[in-house]
Amino acid sequence: MKKSDFQTVVQDPIQRAKKYQEMVGTYFDLVTDSYRQHWGESFHFAIFSGSESLKDALTNTERFIANSGQFRSDMKILDVGCGVAGPAINIAIYSGAHITGVNINAQQLEIANQLVEEHGLSDKIELVLADAMHMPFENDSFDAVYIFEAGCHMPDKANFYQECARVLRPGGVFVGIDWFTAENLTTEQKTKYIEPICRYHAVPNIISLSDLIKCLISVGLTVEVAENIENHGNILRNWELMDTTIAQNIRGLIPWLLPSTLKMLTKGGYALLDGVKSGTFILGRWQAHKPVQLHEGV
Ligand SMILES: C[S@@+](CC[C@H](N)C(=O)[O-])C[C@H]1O[C@@H](n2cnc3c(N)ncnc32)[C@H](O)[C@@H]1O
Repeated sequence: MKKSDFQTVVQDPIQRAKKYQEMVGTYFDLVTDSYRQHWGESFHFAIFSGSESLKDALTNTERFIANSGQFRSDMKILDVGCGVAGPAINIAIYSGAHITGVNINAQQLEIANQLVEEHGLSDKIELVLADAMHMPFENDSFDAVYIFEAGCHMPDKANFYQECARVLRPGGVFVGIDWFTAENLTTEQKTKYIEPICRYHAVPNIISLSDLIKCLISVGLTVEVAENIENHGNILRNWELMDTTIAQNIRGLIPWLLPSTLKMLTKGGYALLDGVKSGTFILGRWQAHKPVQLHEGV
Protein backbone atom coordinates (compact mmCIF):
# COMPACT_ATOMS: atom_id res chain seq x y z
CA MET A 1 0.00 0.00 0.00
CA LYS A 2 1.33 3.47 -0.89
CA LYS A 3 2.18 5.61 2.14
CA SER A 4 -0.39 8.24 1.09
CA ASP A 5 -3.14 5.56 0.86
CA PHE A 6 -2.04 4.19 4.23
CA GLN A 7 -2.47 7.65 5.79
CA THR A 8 -6.01 7.87 4.37
CA VAL A 9 -7.03 4.34 5.41
CA VAL A 10 -5.88 4.66 9.04
CA GLN A 11 -8.14 7.70 9.54
CA ASP A 12 -11.33 5.74 8.88
CA PRO A 13 -12.52 2.83 11.08
CA ILE A 14 -14.47 1.24 8.21
CA GLN A 15 -11.50 1.36 5.83
CA ARG A 16 -9.19 0.09 8.60
CA ALA A 17 -11.30 -3.05 8.93
CA LYS A 18 -11.86 -3.49 5.20
CA LYS A 19 -8.23 -3.06 4.18
CA TYR A 20 -6.62 -4.53 7.30
CA GLN A 21 -4.23 -6.86 5.46
CA GLU A 22 -2.52 -4.17 3.43
CA MET A 23 -2.79 -1.59 6.21
CA VAL A 24 -1.20 -3.82 8.86
CA GLY A 25 1.44 -5.02 6.40
CA THR A 26 2.39 -1.44 5.51
CA TYR A 27 2.40 -0.31 9.14
CA PHE A 28 4.83 -3.03 10.20
CA ASP A 29 7.00 -2.46 7.12
CA LEU A 30 7.29 1.15 8.30
CA VAL A 31 7.87 0.62 12.01
CA THR A 32 9.77 -2.66 12.39
CA ASP A 33 13.27 -1.10 12.26
CA SER A 34 12.30 1.56 14.82
CA TYR A 35 10.63 -1.00 17.09
CA ARG A 36 13.78 -3.16 17.04
CA GLN A 37 16.06 -0.18 17.61
CA HIS A 38 14.08 1.26 20.52
CA TRP A 39 12.29 -1.72 22.06
CA GLY A 40 14.20 -4.88 21.12
CA GLU A 41 12.88 -8.09 19.55
CA SER A 42 9.63 -8.32 21.52
CA PHE A 43 7.00 -5.87 20.30
CA HIS A 44 4.69 -5.74 23.30
CA PHE A 45 4.45 -3.94 26.62
CA ALA A 46 6.05 -5.31 29.77
CA ILE A 47 4.82 -5.78 33.31
CA PHE A 48 7.42 -4.28 35.67
CA SER A 49 7.87 -5.45 39.23
CA GLY A 50 10.44 -2.74 40.11
CA SER A 51 13.36 -1.03 38.43
CA GLU A 52 14.43 -3.99 36.27
CA SER A 53 15.51 -3.34 32.68
CA LEU A 54 12.99 -3.36 29.83
CA LYS A 55 14.60 -6.54 28.46
CA ASP A 56 14.19 -8.35 31.78
CA ALA A 57 10.63 -7.11 32.20
CA LEU A 58 9.72 -8.28 28.69
CA THR A 59 11.24 -11.72 29.32
CA ASN A 60 9.43 -12.00 32.66
CA THR A 61 6.13 -10.98 31.05
CA GLU A 62 6.57 -13.71 28.44
CA ARG A 63 7.42 -16.25 31.15
CA PHE A 64 4.34 -15.15 33.07
CA ILE A 65 2.16 -15.98 30.07
CA ALA A 66 4.06 -19.26 29.50
CA ASN A 67 3.45 -20.17 33.16
CA SER A 68 -0.23 -19.24 32.90
CA GLY A 69 -0.52 -21.73 30.02
CA GLN A 70 1.66 -24.30 31.83
CA PHE A 71 3.82 -24.61 28.71
CA ARG A 72 6.01 -27.71 28.71
CA SER A 73 8.60 -29.24 26.42
CA ASP A 74 6.19 -31.83 25.00
CA MET A 75 3.74 -29.19 23.79
CA LYS A 76 3.05 -27.90 20.28
CA ILE A 77 2.21 -24.22 20.63
CA LEU A 78 0.98 -21.52 18.25
CA ASP A 79 2.13 -17.87 18.55
CA VAL A 80 -0.42 -15.72 16.70
CA GLY A 81 1.07 -12.52 15.24
CA CYS A 82 4.60 -13.50 16.20
CA GLY A 83 6.45 -10.31 15.20
CA VAL A 84 10.19 -10.96 14.75
CA ALA A 85 9.87 -13.97 17.08
CA GLY A 86 11.27 -12.34 20.24
CA PRO A 87 8.54 -13.93 22.43
CA ALA A 88 8.71 -17.28 20.59
CA ILE A 89 12.49 -17.47 21.13
CA ASN A 90 12.22 -16.64 24.83
CA ILE A 91 9.33 -19.02 25.38
CA ALA A 92 10.95 -21.87 23.42
CA ILE A 93 14.11 -21.51 25.54
CA TYR A 94 12.12 -21.22 28.78
CA SER A 95 9.63 -24.04 28.22
CA GLY A 96 11.34 -26.27 25.66
CA ALA A 97 8.06 -26.35 23.71
CA HIS A 98 7.82 -26.46 19.92
CA ILE A 99 6.44 -23.17 18.65
CA THR A 100 4.83 -22.26 15.35
CA GLY A 101 4.71 -18.51 14.76
CA VAL A 102 2.24 -17.07 12.29
CA ASN A 103 2.60 -13.55 10.89
CA ILE A 104 1.12 -11.58 8.00
CA ASN A 105 4.29 -9.49 7.55
CA ALA A 106 6.97 -11.03 5.32
CA GLN A 107 9.68 -8.54 6.32
CA GLN A 108 9.27 -9.44 10.00
CA LEU A 109 9.36 -13.15 9.21
CA GLU A 110 12.64 -12.76 7.36
CA ILE A 111 14.17 -11.14 10.46
CA ALA A 112 12.47 -13.75 12.67
CA ASN A 113 13.99 -16.62 10.66
CA GLN A 114 17.43 -15.05 11.03
CA LEU A 115 17.04 -14.63 14.80
CA VAL A 116 15.74 -18.17 15.25
CA GLU A 117 18.77 -19.50 13.37
CA GLU A 118 21.17 -17.31 15.39
CA HIS A 119 19.70 -18.79 18.58
CA GLY A 120 20.08 -22.34 17.23
CA LEU A 121 16.33 -22.89 17.54
CA SER A 122 15.48 -23.90 13.98
CA ASP A 123 14.29 -27.31 15.19
CA LYS A 124 12.06 -25.72 17.86
CA ILE A 125 10.50 -22.78 16.03
CA GLU A 126 8.71 -22.81 12.71
CA LEU A 127 7.48 -19.61 11.08
CA VAL A 128 4.52 -19.34 8.72
CA LEU A 129 3.49 -16.39 6.56
CA ALA A 130 -0.30 -16.21 6.81
CA ASP A 131 -3.28 -14.14 7.83
CA ALA A 132 -4.36 -15.12 11.34
CA MET A 133 -7.98 -14.52 10.32
CA HIS A 134 -7.65 -17.63 8.10
CA MET A 135 -4.88 -19.85 9.39
CA PRO A 136 -3.47 -22.67 7.25
CA PHE A 137 -3.68 -25.22 10.08
CA GLU A 138 -5.96 -28.21 10.62
CA ASN A 139 -8.59 -28.15 13.35
CA ASP A 140 -7.27 -29.15 16.82
CA SER A 141 -3.59 -28.78 15.76
CA PHE A 142 -2.08 -27.15 18.87
CA ASP A 143 -1.85 -27.92 22.60
CA ALA A 144 -1.75 -24.19 23.29
CA VAL A 145 -2.26 -20.90 21.48
CA TYR A 146 -0.86 -17.61 22.76
CA ILE A 147 -0.93 -13.99 21.65
CA PHE A 148 1.06 -10.91 22.55
CA GLU A 149 -0.75 -7.79 21.36
CA ALA A 150 -1.76 -9.00 17.91
CA GLY A 151 -5.51 -9.55 18.40
CA CYS A 152 -6.00 -5.78 18.39
CA HIS A 153 -4.96 -5.75 14.71
CA MET A 154 -7.73 -8.16 13.68
CA PRO A 155 -10.75 -6.58 11.96
CA ASP A 156 -13.42 -8.98 13.25
CA LYS A 157 -12.70 -10.19 16.76
CA ALA A 158 -15.50 -12.81 16.90
CA ASN A 159 -14.19 -14.52 13.74
CA PHE A 160 -10.60 -14.17 14.90
CA TYR A 161 -11.18 -15.88 18.25
CA GLN A 162 -13.24 -18.54 16.47
CA GLU A 163 -10.15 -19.24 14.34
CA CYS A 164 -7.89 -19.45 17.41
CA ALA A 165 -10.35 -21.86 19.06
CA ARG A 166 -10.58 -23.95 15.88
CA VAL A 167 -6.84 -24.72 15.74
CA LEU A 168 -6.64 -25.46 19.48
CA ARG A 169 -7.10 -29.12 20.46
CA PRO A 170 -9.80 -30.07 22.97
CA GLY A 171 -8.27 -29.63 26.42
CA GLY A 172 -5.80 -27.05 25.02
CA VAL A 173 -5.10 -23.67 26.59
CA PHE A 174 -5.48 -20.19 25.08
CA VAL A 175 -3.58 -17.36 26.82
CA GLY A 176 -2.32 -13.90 26.02
CA ILE A 177 -2.01 -10.19 26.57
CA ASP A 178 -3.68 -7.62 24.33
CA TRP A 179 -5.14 -4.15 24.02
CA PHE A 180 -8.63 -3.52 25.43
CA THR A 181 -10.90 -0.62 26.24
CA ALA A 182 -12.35 -0.07 29.69
CA GLU A 183 -16.03 -1.00 30.06
CA ASN A 184 -18.95 1.21 29.02
CA LEU A 185 -17.03 4.06 27.42
CA THR A 186 -19.01 7.03 26.16
CA THR A 187 -18.82 8.02 22.48
CA GLU A 188 -16.80 11.05 23.56
CA GLN A 189 -14.27 8.87 25.40
CA LYS A 190 -13.98 6.53 22.42
CA THR A 191 -13.42 9.46 20.06
CA LYS A 192 -10.95 11.22 22.34
CA TYR A 193 -8.88 8.29 23.62
CA ILE A 194 -9.46 5.07 21.65
CA GLU A 195 -9.71 6.35 18.08
CA PRO A 196 -6.20 8.00 18.13
CA ILE A 197 -4.70 4.78 19.53
CA CYS A 198 -6.26 2.82 16.62
CA ARG A 199 -5.23 5.37 14.00
CA TYR A 200 -1.57 5.61 15.03
CA HIS A 201 -1.13 1.84 15.33
CA ALA A 202 -3.06 0.46 12.34
CA VAL A 203 -5.61 -1.13 14.66
CA PRO A 204 -9.08 -1.59 13.11
CA ASN A 205 -10.90 -1.51 16.47
CA ILE A 206 -10.46 -2.37 20.15
CA ILE A 207 -12.96 -4.31 22.25
CA SER A 208 -13.42 -4.43 26.03
CA LEU A 209 -12.44 -7.33 28.28
CA SER A 210 -16.11 -8.22 28.75
CA ASP A 211 -16.48 -8.36 24.94
CA LEU A 212 -13.45 -10.66 24.86
CA ILE A 213 -15.09 -12.94 27.42
CA LYS A 214 -18.29 -13.01 25.31
CA CYS A 215 -16.26 -13.88 22.18
CA LEU A 216 -14.34 -16.65 23.94
CA ILE A 217 -17.49 -18.16 25.45
CA SER A 218 -19.33 -17.96 22.14
CA VAL A 219 -16.59 -20.01 20.43
CA GLY A 220 -16.90 -22.67 23.11
CA LEU A 221 -13.95 -21.82 25.36
CA THR A 222 -14.06 -21.82 29.14
CA VAL A 223 -12.63 -18.58 30.49
CA GLU A 224 -10.66 -18.84 33.73
CA VAL A 225 -9.10 -15.36 33.81
CA ALA A 226 -9.73 -12.04 32.05
CA GLU A 227 -8.14 -9.15 33.90
CA ASN A 228 -6.16 -5.92 33.73
CA ILE A 229 -2.45 -6.80 33.82
CA GLU A 230 -1.90 -3.95 36.25
CA ASN A 231 -3.05 -6.53 38.83
CA HIS A 232 0.42 -8.03 38.35
CA GLY A 233 2.72 -5.00 38.31
CA ASN A 234 3.49 -1.58 36.95
CA ILE A 235 2.94 -0.75 33.30
CA LEU A 236 3.50 3.02 33.35
CA ARG A 237 7.26 2.39 33.39
CA ASN A 238 6.93 1.34 29.71
CA TRP A 239 6.11 4.95 28.88
CA GLU A 240 8.76 6.39 31.21
CA LEU A 241 11.36 4.40 29.28
CA MET A 242 9.73 5.35 25.97
CA ASP A 243 9.80 9.03 26.95
CA THR A 244 13.56 8.85 27.46
CA THR A 245 14.00 7.24 24.04
CA ILE A 246 11.74 9.76 22.34
CA ALA A 247 13.54 12.65 24.06
CA GLN A 248 16.87 11.26 22.88
CA ASN A 249 15.53 11.00 19.34
CA ILE A 250 14.12 14.46 19.29
CA ARG A 251 17.11 16.13 20.95
CA GLY A 252 19.22 15.99 17.81
CA LEU A 253 16.39 17.11 15.53
CA ILE A 254 14.12 20.07 15.03
CA PRO A 255 10.82 18.43 16.17
CA TRP A 256 8.89 19.28 13.00
CA LEU A 257 11.66 17.62 10.97
CA LEU A 258 11.09 14.35 12.81
CA PRO A 259 10.79 11.58 10.18
CA SER A 260 7.10 10.78 9.61
CA THR A 261 7.31 7.22 10.96
CA LEU A 262 8.96 8.40 14.18
CA LYS A 263 6.30 11.13 14.41
CA MET A 264 3.56 8.49 14.07
CA LEU A 265 5.22 6.31 16.73
CA THR A 266 5.70 9.26 19.07
CA LYS A 267 2.07 10.38 18.73
CA GLY A 268 0.98 6.75 19.07
CA GLY A 269 3.00 6.32 22.27
CA TYR A 270 1.40 9.41 23.82
CA ALA A 271 -2.09 8.34 22.66
CA LEU A 272 -1.63 5.06 24.54
CA LEU A 273 -0.35 6.85 27.62
CA ASP A 274 -3.36 9.21 27.57
CA GLY A 275 -5.58 6.15 27.32
CA VAL A 276 -3.92 4.43 30.27
CA LYS A 277 -3.90 7.57 32.43
CA SER A 278 -7.55 8.36 31.66
CA GLY A 279 -8.51 4.77 32.53
CA THR A 280 -10.12 4.27 29.09
CA PHE A 281 -7.46 1.90 27.73
CA ILE A 282 -6.08 -1.19 29.43
CA LEU A 283 -3.67 -4.00 28.76
CA GLY A 284 -5.58 -7.16 29.55
CA ARG A 285 -4.70 -10.80 29.81
CA TRP A 286 -6.77 -13.94 29.64
CA GLN A 287 -6.53 -17.63 30.24
CA ALA A 288 -9.06 -20.00 28.71
CA HIS A 289 -9.41 -23.69 27.83
CA LYS A 290 -11.11 -25.58 25.07
CA PRO A 291 -13.29 -28.15 26.82
CA VAL A 292 -12.41 -31.75 26.10
CA GLN A 293 -15.96 -32.33 24.87
CA LEU A 294 -17.38 -29.38 22.95
CA HIS A 295 -21.13 -28.91 22.94
CA GLU A 296 -22.85 -29.90 19.73
CA GLY A 297 -22.83 -27.16 17.10
CA VAL A 298 -19.87 -25.21 18.54
C1 LIG B 1 2.34 -5.47 18.15
S1 LIG B 1 3.04 -6.69 17.12
C2 LIG B 1 3.37 -7.97 18.31
C3 LIG B 1 4.36 -8.96 17.78
C4 LIG B 1 4.72 -10.10 18.73
N1 LIG B 1 3.55 -10.78 19.22
C5 LIG B 1 5.54 -9.58 19.86
O1 LIG B 1 5.01 -9.40 20.96
O2 LIG B 1 6.73 -9.33 19.63
C6 LIG B 1 1.64 -7.36 16.24
C7 LIG B 1 2.00 -8.48 15.29
O3 LIG B 1 0.81 -9.05 14.74
C8 LIG B 1 1.02 -9.29 13.36
N2 LIG B 1 -0.29 -9.30 12.70
C9 LIG B 1 -1.17 -8.29 12.65
N3 LIG B 1 -2.25 -8.65 11.95
C10 LIG B 1 -2.06 -9.93 11.55
C11 LIG B 1 -2.84 -10.88 10.81
N4 LIG B 1 -4.02 -10.57 10.31
N5 LIG B 1 -2.33 -12.10 10.64
C12 LIG B 1 -1.11 -12.45 11.14
N6 LIG B 1 -0.33 -11.59 11.84
C13 LIG B 1 -0.81 -10.35 12.05
C14 LIG B 1 1.89 -8.14 12.92
O4 LIG B 1 2.52 -8.36 11.68
C15 LIG B 1 2.85 -8.07 14.09
O5 LIG B 1 3.88 -9.00 13.95
